[in-house]
Amino acid sequence: MSYDIALIPGDGIGPTVVDAALPLLDDVATEHGFDIETTRYDWGTERYLDAGAMMPDDGLETLESHDAILLGAVGHPEVPDHVTLNGLLLPIRKGFDQSICKRPAVLFDGVDSPLKGYSGGDIDILVFRENTEGEYADIGGREHAGFENEVAVQSAVYTRRSTERIVRAAFEAATERSGHLTNVTKSNAQAHGMVFWDDIVDEVSEEYPDVEVERLLVDAASMDMVRRPDDFDVVVCSNLFGDILTDIGAIVTGSMGLAPSANIDPGRDHPSMFEPVHGSAFDIMGEGVANPLATVLSGSLMIDHLGEDAAAADLWDAVTEQLADDDAPRTPDLGGDSTTKTVASDLADRL
Ligand code: NAD
Ligand code: IPM
Ligand code: MN
Repeated sequence: MSYDIALIPGDGIGPTVVDAALPLLDDVATEHGFDIETTRYDWGTERYLDAGAMMPDDGLETLESHDAILLGAVGHPEVPDHVTLNGLLLPIRKGFDQSICKRPAVLFDGVDSPLKGYSGGDIDILVFRENTEGEYADIGGREHAGFENEVAVQSAVYTRRSTERIVRAAFEAATERSGHLTNVTKSNAQAHGMVFWDDIVDEVSEEYPDVEVERLLVDAASMDMVRRPDDFDVVVCSNLFGDILTDIGAIVTGSMGLAPSANIDPGRDHPSMFEPVHGSAFDIMGEGVANPLATVLSGSLMIDHLGEDAAAADLWDAVTEQLADDDAPRTPDLGGDSTTKTVASDLADRL
């Protein structure tokens, strides 16, 4: 069996972490008797600066034939973020109907949480973030620039199709996990989209009588993910709220450098995309110290999605084992002084 993967290393530390993760994916594939064929697309801000576009016009058509996409990061200090992200990352999520974004936030053994009293195993959250619409709908405009009546509108859109999809995916996961689902909205202030969302959760909950639903407003949820993260298991929320909550989830479990992400097309009509939660981190770019583990774990989610669950588990377990080992190399975000390459090669030895 051979899987055909599109690689989009992207900007900043993106290429560093993708290049570190790739040999490990190969190793685990060989071990389990399958191949990973990759095609590298050097799309990103360098291309934008040279050619005026983040990716070619037919970029999505090019990606369409691949089994999955592994992406590093997008974003560059020389070009406004709304240009780069709306030119590459977001069109893939939307164009490929990747409406389900799954983001685990796990406090691994051997990793320090900045929260007092929490240690390995105490936090294990799985966020289901709607990933194609909501507050990220590209609808709005700006009028009357510079005048006192200048106005900007940024609309949020919630469709029954995507909302039901994300909510149902979250209920399914809650059924397999602890039976507890936290629904995060802002329906006290946003009486249209967010009340609609709560209604869908109520409707779908009828199909899952064994799942207990907790309803939290996003402000309180942000506070509680810091105050009592161990009470969270599966979380479901809109695009923007999921974006914010997963940065909180990443840091309470130790580092942005450990948080993986899966962007899934539930219809499986298009390739799904796997990427770390973090961005291009220009503050540490070129230092060779970016933590590759978020990308490695994203790779594990990718091969799991492709049906290679045993290989995915091996890769995940190797990371778990490395983190639990006091003598293993660590990048500075985890309090160590090792490089990306050293961490990756130690992982290769463990595999
Ligand atoms: P960021 O995630 O890039 O960085 C936030 C902080 O976390 C920084 O201090 C950074 O050094 C640290 N960090 C991130 N990844 C790390 C890793 N692997 N190892 C060690 N430390 C790590 O977020 P930002 O600074 O807000 O954004 C930088 C750029 O990335 C912006 O252009 C932004 O739009 C973009 N961005 C892209 C994505 C993506 O491509 N999916 C995600 C988030 C941000
Ligand atoms: C993420 C990122 C993106 C998002 C940005 C870069 C558009 O922050 O994947 O978490 O908001 O989805
Ligand atoms: Mn984010």
